[in-house]
Amino acid sequence: MKKRPRINRWTQSRRDLIFSPTIKSSLVQPHFVVAGNGVNEAIESMPGISRQSVDVLLETIAGDMENGICSHMLFGVVESHEKDPMASKASDSEMPLQRAVLQLKEKYGNEIVLMTDVCLCTATDHGHCGVIHNQEIDNDLTIPELVRISLSHAEAGADYISASDMMDGRVKAIRKAFESEGYTTTGILSYSVKYASSFYGPFRDAASSSPSHGDRKSHQMDIRSGYKEAISEANGDEKEGADIIMVKPAISYLDVVRKVADAVNKPVAVYNVSGEYSMVMSSSKDISERKAMVQEIFYSFNRAGADIIVSYHTREAMSQKWFD
Ligand code: PBG
Repeated sequence: MKKRPRINRWTQSRRDLIFSPTIKSSLVQPHFVVAGNGVNEAIESMPGISRQSVDVLLETIAGDMENGICSHMLFGVVESHEKDPMASKASDSEMPLQRAVLQLKEKYGNEIVLMTDVCLCTATDHGHCGVIHNQEIDNDLTIPELVRISLSHAEAGADYISASDMMDGRVKAIRKAFESEGYTTTGILSYSVKYASSFYGPFRDAASSSPSHGDRKSHQMDIRSGYKEAISEANGDEKEGADIIMVKPAISYLDVVRKVADAVNKPVAVYNVSGEYSMVMSSSKDISERKAMVQEIFYSFNRAGADIIVSYHTREAMSQKWFD
């Protein structure tokens, strides 16, 4: 397997995101992209966050870029009539996510860092992250689908595909496909250490990705699991060719973030997930209380060793200059 350490150095904006030690340069704003025109649908459980069609998303990101937010994570939301057992729509170049990436790259080029979520769960009719075979999530049948989705994102121009599915061996397969298709500057952000957490609820509303039956415990990590498994997952993904290693959720796993940051030689990202965001939003009585909470939380991520912070608080933190 070829090593591609230049991927993280490829553009000024990637270097600023990954290597600048300041919190404000570490922040990534997530977005939910839907079909249609002029759509801006608030998500009830996540105040301040909405599902947006490509045209509205472009305006939102234009505002974010003006506020110094250069890194964005995009989640494609698939309408229920388009879902199927194989998540076919997730790799369709005509889908809103792929169109958004193409247009954003046309507009901003290397000034923007785009990370795109790769998983089956938003596009499968059963809501699981993999292909179901004999009533189980089949690892090896899922890999080719993840590769197909990743290639469609790379083709659109994503800087990093973000593999959030937790199937075994997918980083290697995606890297191999990128090499053979000539995508030698497209990075892989791997959700290496992702727990089967109860803090993803609001996200699943937003992305309409709840499993119709069962849970995600056969692939996401057990919440009781200690450091050995976390370190072995992170090291394994690094060996398979991941460019960024993610730990998720963030607040309840800061000890794991520290251990992983000490164990890997790649940048570490944390995902300050939807349930963590909603807790702050519902427990802060005004903006100054929220500012104090978000500062405390982000400093703790930084102290634990996170190089990159994916958070729904990014927009407010940057527009209000909480980290200058
Ligand atoms: C898709 C995915 C999830 C999140 C990010 N990517 C949901 C899940 O694994 O169930 C959660 C993000 C959040 O809660 O903000 N697999």
